[in-house]
Amino acid sequence: MTLAPFAFSTPTPHDPAIDAMVAALPKVSLHCHLIGSVAAQTVVELAAKHGVSLAGRTAEDLYDHHSYADLGEFLRVLDVVGSVIRDVDDFHRVTYESLTAGGAAHGVLYREIQLSPPGHPDVPYPRLLAGVVSGMRAARADTGIDSRLVVGINRERSGADAVALVEEVVAHRIDEVVGIGLDYAEVNGPPGRFVEAFQLAARHGLERTAHSESGPPAHIRTLLDDLGCSRVDHGYHVVDDPDITARCVAERVPFTCTPVSSDIGRYSGSGDGTHHRIREMVDAGLCVTIDSDDPPMFGTDPTHDFRVLSHALGYGRDQLAQLTFNAIDACWLDESDRRDLRARADTVVAGVPDRHTTLEDPS
Ligand code: ADE
Ligand code: ZN
Repeated sequence: MTLAPFAFSTPTPHDPAIDAMVAALPKVSLHCHLIGSVAAQTVVELAAKHGVSLAGRTAEDLYDHHSYADLGEFLRVLDVVGSVIRDVDDFHRVTYESLTAGGAAHGVLYREIQLSPPGHPDVPYPRLLAGVVSGMRAARADTGIDSRLVVGINRERSGADAVALVEEVVAHRIDEVVGIGLDYAEVNGPPGRFVEAFQLAARHGLERTAHSESGPPAHIRTLLDDLGCSRVDHGYHVVDDPDITARCVAERVPFTCTPVSSDIGRYSGSGDGTHHRIREMVDAGLCVTIDSDDPPMFGTDPTHDFRVLSHALGYGRDQLAQLTFNAIDACWLDESDRRDLRARADTVVAGVPDRHTTLEDPS
């Protein structure tokens, strides 16, 4: 099947050798939110279908990604997107589009989709699951992309709400759901509030991750010791604390970094395109993975995030491929599926020219 990839307009230097390399490299996606990955045109069509007003916004200006003043402002747009995804067909459609044009077309072999049930307040969880799972199956049948689900707790709500969500996940347990996460604004929901929900998830064999974007390095200790997380989403402030950094290196704790969204959102403290925290994390020996977070909402896609790192940090094929291998180590597949995924990725990498390889005819 031929897929037209979603295309975005974030300016970046033009270099055909880098473009060819980053397009061809295999990707493994551990930090991509379903609500954040809906194409603007799809939002407009679903809003019309359900009679939801977008206050005059069109597909062209719905995602004005440079106008998010902070995470809160971005999250309010995310809530609008969540509100137009309502029936089983909608969930099927957004999942399918995100995994195919937004994933497989960029060389994504496998994704653990971050779902946010609280972002669809009027949708019963079983309905959401039915549409998402059928979208996952159709995407796999058409493109080969495999996927699993991570159910996100909204940290701006109470600890009791979080427990109730985990109870619902457990009551409707399916193999596709491999873990839980913790998203929305860290300033409004410190991780310690969610110990009970995470312990409940652990007792039911669910893996655990949580966002730590703006919070202090001490939050990472809470994630590991109290919430039992085996991964950290973002986690840029780890490098502010040498002891926690050393521990995370020794324990090979994965950090799912998202260069473009974090730069625009300034979660990494820079916002200047240098991606210096990601460089520091890699140089410190941390297990870093790369993804797009909320791709169209931040004007990015899986290929573009690799491209940006190649330009900003000078990474070539082997360094970028290592980020994919890290994600394979960090993913929540069982060992035999993980080995198969690694074999697929190795095969693809072997056929990718490095950025120094000239594509021009030397004659
Ligand atoms: N939900 C979607 N994207 C998010 C992000 N970057 N941080 C927190 N919650 C999110
Ligand atoms: Zn995120």
